[in-house]
Amino acid sequence: MARSYSIAVIPGDGTGPEVVAEGIKVLKAVAAVEGISLDFTTYDFGGDRYLRTGEVLPDSAADELKKYHAIYLGAIGHPDVKPGILEKGILLRLRFELDQYINLRPVKLYPNVETPLKDKGPEHIDYVVVRENSGGVYTGSGGITMKGTPHEVAVQEMIYSRFQVERCLRYAFEYTRKRNRRKTLALVGKTNVLTYVFDLWERVFHEIGDREYPDIKREYYHVDATCMWMVKNPEWFDVLVTENMFGDIITDLGAITQGGMGIAAGGNINPGGVSMFEPIGGSAPKYTGMNIINPLAAIASAQMMMETLGEDKAASRMEQGIVKVLQRDLKSLAAGRMGLSTTQVGDKVAEYAAS
Ligand code: IPM
Ligand code: MN
Repeated sequence: MARSYSIAVIPGDGTGPEVVAEGIKVLKAVAAVEGISLDFTTYDFGGDRYLRTGEVLPDSAADELKKYHAIYLGAIGHPDVKPGILEKGILLRLRFELDQYINLRPVKLYPNVETPLKDKGPEHIDYVVVRENSGGVYTGSGGITMKGTPHEVAVQEMIYSRFQVERCLRYAFEYTRKRNRRKTLALVGKTNVLTYVFDLWERVFHEIGDREYPDIKREYYHVDATCMWMVKNPEWFDVLVTENMFGDIITDLGAITQGGMGIAAGGNINPGGVSMFEPIGGSAPKYTGMNIINPLAAIASAQMMMETLGEDKAASRMEQGIVKVLQRDLKSLAAGRMGLSTTQVGDKVAEYAAS
């Protein structure tokens, strides 16, 4: 019997719909050859809908989305909407309500892609960041008192429960084992300053590492030093695990070392529920409708979606498609300078992935 999956699609704002269309094109092409049946349902959440209706996200959205096997998201962010409203009201709300407590962000340099790192190539840049995706300062705990006076005080707290820390670390250990490369998991923290939060992270890291993952080598790096090594010695890394905000910051650095937002993919994962896959880059509104934006990050996110659904063969076909188009066709990853249009890139990847 054919494996079949129903996918919720949120194309979102700006160039989101254009890149998502190419991801779906490639998914359909590999599904056909792998005997997978895919069913797509589109939701119009995003800036335009908000400006039209005044509603950011219907309260029923998360429950509705739980019915799908996965969610495929383009981009959220609209130039006419104040920053924060859509990001918090759609993206972060869905991450929280669907309890997608892992943000998985591979940093992999493909052949023929230019990196700003001197003397580094694909053999040096291939690691994965496991970003905790449900806690930390993103919890939204805090406030401002005496606002508007010279005495005003703003507080935003970094909050972690043992439960959150433990489930994230366990995922990271399992992932490192399954990845089966150097079997090295590095905790990225700030034990010298955040002496409460990273005391907890560090203790749990070694506790469960000792007890349950003796085959996985453990390392620790301060987050500031990590930024240095990501530039100078990225080949040291296999899997990195860190808290939410640190993960947010270091994965933008990671993304630029792998060729930038045109290629960087991410997955918001709930290992026991429904996960949501999205390119790391934003909605790039100035390129909307021009058919010049690079769809590879969105295609790579769709590849992660297939991998997470257990469709490894379909996923590796998609990766092959990406690698081939980079080797044979693309002049650059930058919008407008690829030498091909958005839709042509999708056509080529679909063709290579299916052959
Ligand atoms: C990301 C983004 C989001 C985050 C923003 C848009 C809320 O930067 O996915 O990395 O901070 O998580
Ligand atoms: Mn970010």
